[in-house]
Amino acid sequence: MKRLLLLAALLTTPALAQDTRFLAPLPPAAQETLRKEMLDNLLALNEIITLLASNKVREAGEVAEQRLGQTAMGKNAALPYDARPGPQMPIEMHGLGRDGHAAASAFARAAATGDATKAMAALPRLTGSCVACHALYRTR
Ligand code: HEC
Repeated sequence: MKRLLLLAALLTTPALAQDTRFLAPLPPAAQETLRKEMLDNLLALNEIITLLASNKVREAGEVAEQRLGQTAMGKNAALPYDARPGPQMPIEMHGLGRDGHAAASAFARAAATGDATKAMAALPRLTGSCVACHALYRTR
């Protein structure tokens, strides 16, 4: 019985299903930049949610704008081309990246009002932007 349950769990685990995401062929240096950025994205998102949970709505908005929003765009421009993921991504993927920055800035504007309900309402568009790109693209 236990084994059957385990098998059922394994068969429904998406990670084991065939990976149908598009491969974005980035050079190793750009992959490294992207990976570091992504780890910081997750930290930023966690900070945002933690601040929201303690009703520090405006502070959550500031973190969103500085770390994920349009303010955070273009910070790789000074790197050698090889290490810049943005311009080497498929154009649609790059678009999803820009959508994510826009979603973070929209959240930041909602949070700047100090209204927790408004800020919460803008949060799924931000988390949804992470999910959208991850669901469609892989780099390896
Ligand atoms: C434009 C596409 C895109 C968007 C938007 C995006 N990601 Fe990613 N993310 C990727 C790709 C591609 C990888 C795989 C990178 C690799 O390992 O080469 C990745 C990897 C990661 C990883 C794993 C890093 C590791 O340890 O290897 C985390 C965590 C992550 N993303 C978090 C986030 C969060 C949080 C957001 C939203 C705030 C986000 N990402 C938005 C494309 C995206």
